[in-house]
Amino acid sequence: MSFKEQLGRRVDHIEEVLTGFLPKETGYQKTVLEAMNYSVTAGGKRLRPMIMEECFKLFGGEGEIVYPFMAALEMIHNYSLVHDDLPAMDNDMYRRGRKTTWTVYGEGMAVLAGDGLLNLAYETAAKAFDMTEDITVIKRVAKALQILGNKAGVYGMIGGQTADIEAEENQNLLTEEVLLFIHENKTAALIQAAMMIGATLAGASDDDVKAMEQVAYNIGIAFQIQDDVLDVTSTTEVLGKPVGSDEKNNKLTYVTLKGLETSKKEVERLSREAIETLTYYVQKKDKDRDTFLIELIESLITREK
Ligand code: IPE
Ligand code: IPE
Ligand code: MG
Ligand code: MG
Ligand code: MG
Repeated sequence: MSFKEQLGRRVDHIEEVLTGFLPKETGYQKTVLEAMNYSVTAGGKRLRPMIMEECFKLFGGEGEIVYPFMAALEMIHNYSLVHDDLPAMDNDMYRRGRKTTWTVYGEGMAVLAGDGLLNLAYETAAKAFDMTEDITVIKRVAKALQILGNKAGVYGMIGGQTADIEAEENQNLLTEEVLLFIHENKTAALIQAAMMIGATLAGASDDDVKAMEQVAYNIGIAFQIQDDVLDVTSTTEVLGKPVGSDEKNNKLTYVTLKGLETSKKEVERLSREAIETLTYYVQKKDKDRDTFLIELIESLITREK
């Protein structure tokens, strides 16, 4: 099967898992439920749950205990985008080729839809406790919940978004160090959550979970640099979201700091480093040497959306 076919199968599988955890649109809170589902069912690459499941398998994980966490992380990712697009933040009207949630449902409802998704994420992840009576696995689930809370919160994604907004107002504050802080937290943190949770649920050692944290750091920084590159070089049709959003918002990005060529090289360098470590793990583990995860990271270097 080609990489593209494998990718398509995994996206379908993730959509199925995710849909199983989404709320029914009924009751007096119907509108917010619709807005939540509108955001989550709009497509997207589903990269975070995909990486999580691959990492789970890489460390020998089997079964469905990872499913609630895959759905939870995608919900958190989507809530972060719903809020990121709000007029008070990036003020963007398109995402994944559709109108953004606030554009369709209004700002108040978009705030609540984001809040709703964030809460639903933890309610969903905690369902993993109902799936096992094995105390070892229960402890892994508890650890995975801590990772999720940490990487999504003020010491992770929210922390990065905070510095991102502040830097907009005062570009003089923005050194390469601050920019790396922003990228590490607003973007790499959720990818770290994906890899670390996958490994943790599979029973990986602390050292191996740490190694995945470093791998995901590289992937995450590369991913955001590429996002900033595409914001300059792509088109709205291909990207499904507005190009030039960063310039409009006066954001200093890796591209404005270092230029396009250096940025592209940095994406490649960081990705190659991540691939090197991952290759070691794949060769160590696999009887059948499943290289999908490596091909996936490789494909991100040249991704166009
Ligand atoms: C967009 O993430 C936000 C960033 C961290 C750059 P993705 O590029 O993974 O968005 P979707 O889920 O595929 O739409
Ligand atoms: C946002 O970064 C990262 C989040 C935590 C949502 P961007 O603002 O660059 O993401 P896009 O370009 O809107 O997807
Ligand atoms: Mg933003
Ligand atoms: Mg944005
Ligand atoms: Mg962007």
